[in-house]
Amino acid sequence: MSPSSRHDYDTSLRDAVRLLRDCRRLVVLTGAGVSRESGIATFREAQTGLWARYDPAQLATPAAFARDPKLVWAFYQARREKLHSAQPNPAHHALAALEARWPHLTLITQNVDTLHESAGSTRVIRLHGTLDADRCSADCQGSPTPVDRGALPAPADGSPPACPHCGAPIRPDVVWFTEALPQATLRAAREACASADVMLVVGTSGLVYPAAGLPAQAHGAGARIIEVNPERSDITPLAVVWIAAAAGHALPALVRLLGATGPSA
Ligand code: OAD
Repeated sequence: MSPSSRHDYDTSLRDAVRLLRDCRRLVVLTGAGVSRESGIATFREAQTGLWARYDPAQLATPAAFARDPKLVWAFYQARREKLHSAQPNPAHHALAALEARWPHLTLITQNVDTLHESAGSTRVIRLHGTLDADRCSADCQGSPTPVDRGALPAPADGSPPACPHCGAPIRPDVVWFTEALPQATLRAAREACASADVMLVVGTSGLVYPAAGLPAQAHGAGARIIEVNPERSDITPLAVVWIAAAAGHALPALVRLLGATGPSA
């Protein structure tokens, strides 16, 4: 960090602490950037981003799965493999630690890993589902129809296992492009945003809707936005404080400074 960016960083941290000190209802929105320091690739960063290397139209849509279930399944199995060894990083731990001060804090994530839960966050709304779970691709018993992939025989050719009820291929329980988010999940996220004083937005490009619309909604309802992202994003213009740093660095610092300001009112 150069001396001037160090100054900007220190100033933005202090501004964020000032806002948080007066905050009664905090909501957090995270994206792939929060898991970057756990070794999980983001989506849109040049070269390293998942969608910079692979075409989401071939891998993350219902049409892609219908066309080539084996290819899509292999892609998600590889992502699961990668997640298997991933550990929460200091950013996840810092966000979990915020619950000591805001016991009703809602953490909304777009991520399909479970690193927030592993770090101890208890009120997590997962907008895009989870890589941990699977469901019948035909949702034959109602939407969704969960299935336990561990209990199903895995086809030798790498195809997805068959649903035990109807035989359709199973699929990861994540939201794909062109699919709607689960209504109840989105409603819960919107309610949390509507009543927040401050929204902390961490590591998202703010490009994928409806998740990307939540900061604007919170802002419209009176919340102040604090953003943590080393790069400018589509959320930055809404932010009253932008901490331009990696989440694993900035969030623990924020928690330390908050601790030093005494308990909340
Ligand atoms: P993106 O890849 O679009 O954006 C990741 C953001 O994280 C970028 O703005 C980076 O600058 C920032 N970033 C990188 N390293 C960081 C760090 N160490 N600390 C903080 N920020 C960092 O990922 P998302 O915005 O999460 O959808 O993408 C949204 C959705 O698009 C994903 O949920 C996924 C994808 O298609 C589904 O899977 C449905």
